[in-house]
Amino acid sequence: MGLSAPASRVHELAPEELELYRLLDAERLPRHVAIIMDGNGRWAQQRRLQRFFGHQQGAESVQYVVETASRIGLPWLTLYAFSLENNLRRPRTEVSFLMRLLKTYLVGNIRRMNDNNVRIAYIGRTQDLPAEVQETMRWAAEQTQQNTGTTLTLALNYGARGEIVDAARAAVRSAMANAAQTGLSQEQCVEQCAQQITEEAICQALYTAHMPDPDLVIRTSCEMRISNFLLWQIAYAEIFVTERYWPDFRGIHLLEAIAAYQRRERRYGGLGEKPSPAKTAAPDEAFVRS
Ligand code: FPP
Repeated sequence: MGLSAPASRVHELAPEELELYRLLDAERLPRHVAIIMDGNGRWAQQRRLQRFFGHQQGAESVQYVVETASRIGLPWLTLYAFSLENNLRRPRTEVSFLMRLLKTYLVGNIRRMNDNNVRIAYIGRTQDLPAEVQETMRWAAEQTQQNTGTTLTLALNYGARGEIVDAARAAVRSAMANAAQTGLSQEQCVEQCAQQITEEAICQALYTAHMPDPDLVIRTSCEMRISNFLLWQIAYAEIFVTERYWPDFRGIHLLEAIAAYQRRERRYGGLGEKPSPAKTAAPDEAFVRS
């Protein structure tokens, strides 16, 4: 699963990032941060600009955040860049713009990705994206596949319910193939298949089988919802919501979210440790005003 943390390059952080990073516990950094990037349209609207400008500025934020993540040695960063619902429900002009922006982003940033040792990967029904976009995506993944630092996973044409359906189908196919070889009665076959549909089997069939589950989910623009993002994988993730719109989000804000994450106590349904006085004194915000 590639769990060893990539080497950190904290000396490359901006001075204000370094100051905040020094307050973090380097031993308890999240392994996987997933971000719902939201508010591009409202950012543009606030400035009386067309939505497209918000997306363009949002692509800049992506690069800032990726580079800070790579400098602190975050192994996995997953960004919700384009949902199945965006594809179905947004005007065609906006969808085409987002597709062009993705291509431009990948081509324009490949050198910086390699300079930062970032590997690019994707999850989602990417096979349904336009052929030329898929080609650029493949090219970018190949160009960065030797990198050993942060894995940047872009969720594209992604929906978590669709992913779970895809995983359940894959798990059933594999269970049926196993049962078919055994010469059992139909009833026994059905039961054997059912027994093979375990949490482990579903996990192994998800697009994210090769990654640890996210420890921290960040959502920008103050919306308190998950919007069909990694529903299975975030069962025990900490959630951090900020008012800031995605085009204004920078590496320092990623570090602020990690600081809030480190003030939480993760209990995974158990009783956890008794909170220490220091922990109870610190605000355990799920939401911060920017
Ligand atoms: C939400 O803003 C964001 C998106 C629909 C897509 C995210 C896209 C980007 C950050 C830009 C490009 C990304 C890459 C990887 C190149 P919204 O349009 O829903 O904002 P609103 O809710 O304010 O209307």
